[in-house]
Formats: sequence, C-alpha cells, structure tokens
Amino acid sequence: MSRLIEQLNEQIAHEYSAHQQYVAAAVFYDTQALPELAGFFYRQAVEERTHAMMIVRYLIDIDAAVTIPGIAAPKTDFADVVEPVALSLEQERRVSEQFDELAETAASEKDHKGLNFLQWFLKEQVEEVATMSHLLTVVERGRDQPLLIEDFLARNPFGGGDAGGAQPAVAGG
Ligand SMILES: [Fe+2]
Ligand SMILES: [Fe+2]
Repeated sequence: MSRLIEQLNEQIAHEYSAHQQYVAAAVFYDTQALPELAGFFYRQAVEERTHAMMIVRYLIDIDAAVTIPGIAAPKTDFADVVEPVALSLEQERRVSEQFDELAETAASEKDHKGLNFLQWFLKEQVEEVATMSHLLTVVERGRDQPLLIEDFLARNPFGGGDAGGAQPAVAGG
C-alpha cells in the first residue's frame, strides 16, 4: 500500500472527528437556544461527513483498501460561546496541515491522480480556515451578549459554500 493511501485512510478518521466535533458544538448552541450558531455547526458537520465520503469514493474508484475508522469522542462541554469556535479554528488549521502533508506525499510518490484529487481539498481548507476565523471574530465581539451574535449571523449568513471548481464525487451520494 502506498503511503498516500495510508494517509488518505487516516484522513477519513480526521474528517469524521471534525463531523462529531461540529455536531457536539451544534448541540451545545442548540441547548443554549442559539439557533443561528447551532445551524452553522449542523451544516459544517454535514460538510465534514461529505469530505470523508469523497475520500471513500476516491479510494474505491482507484481500487485501494478503505477502512472505516472508529474515532475518539468529541469535546462536549464548553465554558462559553467562544470556546467551540476557537476549538474549531484550531481543528481547521490542523486539517489544512494534513492536506499539505497529503499533497507532499502524493508529489513525492509521483502520484499525479492523487495530487489532482487533493487540489479541491487544498482550496476548500483555505475557505474553511477563513470562515472559522471570521466567526471567531464575531463570537468574541458578542461573548457576553450572544443574542447580538445571533442577530449578526441572521443578517450576514456565511459559511456553507464549497470551494468551487470540480467537486470530487461522494460515495453514496
Ligand atoms: Fe473537512
Ligand atoms: Fe472543515
């Protein structure tokens, strides 16, 4: 098995971890009666699942082994409305680094199809980090008045877009 295929299998776990963490954040905001923040994270969670299933599709298409991983439990209690977003920004930065490493592996293995598959994710990560960083600014500003955050998000919806360009196919979808 090539190192790239191993790393892509590991990435399926990272994407599912992100899914679980975003569901946990959504539930936290939902239980605090903050529907805009909850909605943002429920949508982000679905995107992460889609990323995992894009990798699954690719591995099936190239006839490579696919492992559906178990994953560690997400963090579910948070000190305030800022913490889930700060954690999510760290997570998106980490995922960006993981895709940089995947691209380096593909290049070093001269795997051009693999490198081409990764292009969309590299672009998507730029957006994901930018969106989360923007949201962090918003929630920090409204830390003590979460309804102002809700009001801002209702008037200025953001996130949820994809990176544009040819989106990889999704297993089962
Ligand atoms: Fe992702
Ligand atoms: Fe993400």
